[in-house]
Amino acid sequence: MDKIIGIKVNKDKAQETISKIKEENNFNSRYKIIREKENIIIPIKKITSDLNKNNIVEINNPEKQKEIGLTYKEILKKEINSKYIDNLPSSYDIVGDIIIINIEDKEFLKEYSSNLTNSLKKIHPHIKVVLNKSKEHHGTFRTQDLEWIGGENRKETIIQENGCYLKTDVEKVFYSTRLATERKRIASLVLENETIGVFFAGVGPFSIAIAKLAKPKEIISIELNPIGVKYMEENILKNQMEKIITPIEGDVKEISKRYPNYFDRIPMPLPKSAENFLDDAIFSIKDKGIIHIYNFVSKNEPFKEIEKIIKEKEKKNNCKIEIIFKKVIRSFSQTTVQIVMDLKISKDLS
Ligand SMILES: C[S@@+](CC[C@H](N)C(=O)[O-])C[C@H]1O[C@@H](n2cnc3c(N)ncnc32)[C@H](O)[C@@H]1O
Repeated sequence: MDKIIGIKVNKDKAQETISKIKEENNFNSRYKIIREKENIIIPIKKITSDLNKNNIVEINNPEKQKEIGLTYKEILKKEINSKYIDNLPSSYDIVGDIIIINIEDKEFLKEYSSNLTNSLKKIHPHIKVVLNKSKEHHGTFRTQDLEWIGGENRKETIIQENGCYLKTDVEKVFYSTRLATERKRIASLVLENETIGVFFAGVGPFSIAIAKLAKPKEIISIELNPIGVKYMEENILKNQMEKIITPIEGDVKEISKRYPNYFDRIPMPLPKSAENFLDDAIFSIKDKGIIHIYNFVSKNEPFKEIEKIIKEKEKKNNCKIEIIFKKVIRSFSQTTVQIVMDLKISKDLS
């Protein structure tokens, strides 16, 4: 039989007492408040010195809270009395069994990180770790700084995506679940026996999805971050794709020089600056091959700037670039969206 403790107060004192108990982080939010004719019984976690001992009661078989359909902020509001809850972000990323949230308020985190972790775990029972990011992805490796908030103290996780096993460290290597649909789309375009160059490969999500979902002959998977390459190698083995995917650690600008007119298809998932590597991709793509370029662009005129760059690249590289598909994939910030363009490169202009 379930047994917990509660504090019994007259209905007149209900609001005042609930607020006080929440402030002290002593409200047992797993159970419902019991409402009697004159009194209410508030479930508490422990007996503290400032509670009137005469009002403490035992509750047998307490009724559990139903939290299905609530947001983590609504759950938090039931547990703690903080004016900051409304300012907390409504969304967060889930990578494997890790939640990555972006909370700026250090005071809130200092006081309520365990409540925050519990509220997130109530909604996502498979979550084992909660991390806070202090700023967006940065630097050449596009990594993010993450502070541990709660749960198990680790930053490594395993992702199951498109039937692929992908291990990563969410702080040391870039990984975004938001491109999962794109990886599936690219794999669906791949014809049998294609040779593919995945530029900016990370821990291998594009390469492994293509190898698993399509029937390419060969995938050259290039990544600069040595930790990313280490995970990519492990992921290739774990997915048994070592006969198809060759991981290469290095700069796309250098490595692409080894592959003139070599690839049928090149995905370029480096949205901050992929256009700076377009000459290298054109050098490595076969005549009539396809380049998939990802970019962050202005929300107002998403394709204008890249279309201008493409015209310049045509002239510079003496080729024809046909935009065969373009799409806004997602909103990135208030002013920026992420796009993809599929470019068909014709080198034989005779
Ligand atoms: C936006 S991430 C994409 C990672 C992965 N493809 C994914 O979708 O999760 C870009 C990756 O390109 C790598 N990178 C940046 N500059 C590079 C370069 N010059 N040559 C090779 N890789 C590079 C970064 O380390 C990072 O892992």
